[in-house]
Amino acid sequence: MSKKQLIAGNWKMNASLAGSEALVRGVLEGLAAAPAVCDVAMCVPAPYLAAVQGWLSGQTAVQAGAQDVSQHASGAYTGEVSADMLRDFGVRYAIVGHSERRQYHGETDEVVAAKAQRALAAGITPIVCVGETLAEREAGHTEEVVRRQLAAVVHVNGHCITEIVVAYEPVWAIGTGKTASPEQAQQVHAVLRAQLAAASVHADRIPLLYGGSMNASNAASLLAQPDIDGGLIGGASLKVPDFLAIVAAAR
Ligand code: G3H
Repeated sequence: MSKKQLIAGNWKMNASLAGSEALVRGVLEGLAAAPAVCDVAMCVPAPYLAAVQGWLSGQTAVQAGAQDVSQHASGAYTGEVSADMLRDFGVRYAIVGHSERRQYHGETDEVVAAKAQRALAAGITPIVCVGETLAEREAGHTEEVVRRQLAAVVHVNGHCITEIVVAYEPVWAIGTGKTASPEQAQQVHAVLRAQLAAASVHADRIPLLYGGSMNASNAASLLAQPDIDGGLIGGASLKVPDFLAIVAAAR
């Protein structure tokens, strides 16, 4: 595939303000010395977005992202952050439907679809996460689960939404050190690609990221798969050398 791959870090609820600055500046220094051929993003905790944007200003090597966005436009939703608020900080991406949001905050496919639409309406690209649990995989339901999760976002009121990034993150591989093999990941990515192709002629342009214990050692083999267009990186995005190594493995 000729399009650039995307390596997006997801810091989750980690780092401090000082640690965030060290991470951002470390990655920028690394990329100044060895420019990336792929796109790079950092999805940071919401309170740090303004500071991160400040450290990123004046460069184009790294884009800022959020880890979530409200399904609502505005109003009495204590603790929520709207897409328009994120846009005020120049946020390029917003993760929606991460399995940790689905699992710990009860987010349904419908909520995830609403969040993706809010992001798109604000000019922010949603990174839509899909993925099966270990029990679902062992029961042979992987394809059914990821297809259902993707369909909820792609098919909205008879319209097909394709200005998205999709991240396949098998839940059993997240933060566990158990990575899907390149073949396992490719198999699911091919299913997602076919589903998108059936919905849109632009399917080839939709980046399909893999997430789940991607690290400096396994990134190259995962990123070499034909339908893997990048990575959504959790733990390894918190260490400058590891994140830079993954970026260097991308094309
Ligand atoms: O969003 C990132 C994924 O949950 C992967 O996290 O690389 O720590 O397994 P991980």
